[in-house]
Amino acid sequence: MVMPLPCGLALLGWSSFERSEKSFFAAFGVTYLSLMTENSQEQTLAALGVKQPDQVAPLFAGLLSLAKADLNAANSAEGFEKFRVRWLGRKSGVLTLVTDNWLKPACKELKPAVGQALNKFKAQLETAMEARRAAIESGAQEAVSAKDRVDLSLPGVIRPVGSRHLIRQVLQEIEDIFVSIGFSVVEGPEIETPYYNFEALNIPEFHPVRDDMDTFYVEARRESGAVLTAPGSLLLRTHTSPMQIRTMEKRKPPVRVIVPGKVYRRDNPDATHSFMFHQIEGLAVDHDITFCDFTGTIEYFVKQYFGSGVKTRFRPSYFPFTEPSVEFDVSCIFCGGSGSAASGQTCGKCKGSGWIELFGAGMVDPEVDGFVNYDAKKVSGFAFGMGMDRLSMRKYGIDDIQAFFQNDVRFLKQFP
Ligand code: PHE
Repeated sequence: MVMPLPCGLALLGWSSFERSEKSFFAAFGVTYLSLMTENSQEQTLAALGVKQPDQVAPLFAGLLSLAKADLNAANSAEGFEKFRVRWLGRKSGVLTLVTDNWLKPACKELKPAVGQALNKFKAQLETAMEARRAAIESGAQEAVSAKDRVDLSLPGVIRPVGSRHLIRQVLQEIEDIFVSIGFSVVEGPEIETPYYNFEALNIPEFHPVRDDMDTFYVEARRESGAVLTAPGSLLLRTHTSPMQIRTMEKRKPPVRVIVPGKVYRRDNPDATHSFMFHQIEGLAVDHDITFCDFTGTIEYFVKQYFGSGVKTRFRPSYFPFTEPSVEFDVSCIFCGGSGSAASGQTCGKCKGSGWIELFGAGMVDPEVDGFVNYDAKKVSGFAFGMGMDRLSMRKYGIDDIQAFFQNDVRFLKQFP
């Protein structure tokens, strides 16, 4: 379809329009290229067949609607400037051509009408341009401010504050108790030699007690892959007891230390086993330390940790590096030691026994290597090795050791 065109169109030198503007004409359904005649801008009103003053107004009205459509297509400062040059440009702008070809050569009868219409057209164009410029500017500003806008009504981002892991908290509790009675805290290597982990502790190779401590052996390698260590010469410590030896090698009595840390055993994970867990070793060596000092210290710790209402008991046990050796139990804090739960049923935590197994301990066996520099006739000592995970589970009623290592926030949040 070809829209009826204002007759001025063919005159106005549209060929100066840029390619992109062709789309504008296409939108009007105008195949403007075919309407163009060469040098059309040089045609006069007479050549266009405009003879009556009343033909002038419709001509300008058509021109104005073209101008407005072209103006509306300009939606940036750059597009606006191109529009300005196209229509108001001094040399070949549409207004210049109109003045030169329509107004100047117009006959006497037409001239006043053309002059008037042209003035009106200029004023209308100016108004439209002003409005367009304002719209473009405010649009640009809006875009800028929309980018920078801070919406104060949006709900804030809540960043949860973490807390110390329960194992850390329990470690702190235990440390505080022992530090308050004169112990100091030392730490040792997690990668050990079999000597410190076993032999020095009176556990020779092939001793059956090693079976209880399925061990991870490690290899040290260069980046090239070359193995630096002999097979079986390094391991992940299976308990914190090697630090008994390392401490006695370095310090003279009196010794009172606790040694918290990670230990490793090749256990399959279940509710009570994990290949990595936490122990706290304790060692006290001094002149005339007796079994009474030992049980008194342990009892003091247990009552501080679980509450003064609990009872303790120890049972004979065996460790190659303590003699005598004991296993410490505490009365069940969940059933008060009765063995039956509030419901009348058997207490699930102590399985009805009323006692909960806590840890192993004993008087330091002078046979252990660390003792060689000590005079076994004058000094004696005790040692204990507590599972920190187990102590936490017993106190906080946690049934599954895996909960410590799964990092489930729902679990961790219960111990803020
Ligand atoms: N090291 C022993 C273990 O892990 C515990 C222990 C430590 C026993 C110190 C006695 C003395 O089972």
